[in-house]
Amino acid sequence: ASPLVSSATLSDTYSETIEFADIEWDNLGFGLTPTDYMYVMKCARGGTFSKGELQRFGNIELSPSAGVLNYGQGLFEGLKAYRKQDGNILLFRPEENALRMQIGAERMCMPAPTVEQFVEAVKDTVLANKRWVPPAGKGSLYIRPLLMGSGPILGLAPSPEYTFLIYVSPVGNYFKEGLAPINLIVESDLHRATPGGTGGVKTIGNYAAVLKAQSAAKAKGYSDVLYLDCVHKRYLEEVSSCNIFVVKGNVISTPAIKGTILPGITRKSIIDVARSQGFQVEERLVSVDELLDADEVFCTGTAVVVSPVGSITYLGKKVSYANGVGVVSEQLYTALTRLQMGISQDEMNWTV
Ligand code: COI
Repeated sequence: ASPLVSSATLSDTYSETIEFADIEWDNLGFGLTPTDYMYVMKCARGGTFSKGELQRFGNIELSPSAGVLNYGQGLFEGLKAYRKQDGNILLFRPEENALRMQIGAERMCMPAPTVEQFVEAVKDTVLANKRWVPPAGKGSLYIRPLLMGSGPILGLAPSPEYTFLIYVSPVGNYFKEGLAPINLIVESDLHRATPGGTGGVKTIGNYAAVLKAQSAAKAKGYSDVLYLDCVHKRYLEEVSSCNIFVVKGNVISTPAIKGTILPGITRKSIIDVARSQGFQVEERLVSVDELLDADEVFCTGTAVVVSPVGSITYLGKKVSYANGVGVVSEQLYTALTRLQMGISQDEMNWTV
C-alpha cells in the first residue's frame, strides 16, 4: 500500500486554532478509541528495517501461521503524548522505549528498529493523529508500538518476516478508581515470571500470563494483582501492568531489576525524581512483610502513571494504608506529570 500521509506533509507547528476530534473529552477511560492512522514497517528475518509508512488505522492481514499467533513472538511498548497549554505536543523519553524494544527483540530473536527509526515513527504517527491528542489536562494520547513475527512458520523457529506497527488511542485514567487509591491482592500461587524467563522484557506473553489471576481478583472486587517471586514466594515482583514502590519514612524501596520484572520507564523516572526531592531510594529485594508494614505504597507505569495503593490483601489479611491518599505518591505524581505536560522546567531533558 502506498503511504496515505508522508512525513513531509505533516507539520509540527500549529495553526492558531487546534482542530480536535469530535469525542467526549471529559470522560476518557483507558480503552481503545480508533484513530486515523497507524505506522507500519516490515523487514525480513536477518534483515534490517528500512522504510515504513503511515496507513489508515484498521485491521491487518496475517497468515494463520504467523510466528506471533503460533509461538508468541511479539513485543509491545507503551508511551504517551501530552498536549501542552500552548497546543504543542510532548513525548516523554521515547528513546527509552526504543532501547527497551531493542533489548526485548534480542531476547525474542527479532530484528528491531533503530532508536532513530522508532522515535521518528512515533512522531509521524502522533502528528498524523494530532486531532486525537486530548486538550491539556483531559488525558493523553497512548502510543502502542508493536513488534511481531508476522511471517508464516510452522516448525518452531524465528519467523521469516517482522512487522513494526504503531497505533494510538486517546486515554484517561487506567484504573476505574481514577486517581483514588487502588486495592491490590497478593498472589501466592500463580507467577508472572521465572528466573531466566522473559519477565524482564515486554513480550506479549507476559501479559497473557497474568489474566487468570487478574480476572479472579477483579471478580472479587480488587483493582489488580501483585506478584511474588517464584523461588521464595516472599519478595515483591510487580503488579500486572505496573511496578511497585514501598515507602517507609524517608526511604522509598522498589524491587531491583534482575530479569523477572519490567524495567519501567516511569519507574526509572520516579526514582530520579524522588532522589532529586531528597528521598532515599533503594532498588533491592523487598519482602512482603515490608510491604505490609509500609507507611505508603504506590505503583508506577506509563498507563497507570503514579497510582496510590489504598490496601493490600495477603493470605486473607487486609492491610490499609492510613497515610491519606498517599502524600509521597501525590507529590511524585504531581512532579512527574508537570514535567510530562510541559508545565514545569524539564531540567532532565526528558521531553521531546
Ligand atoms: C503501559 O503502562 O504502557 C503498559 O504497557 C501496561 C499495559 C498492560 C497497559
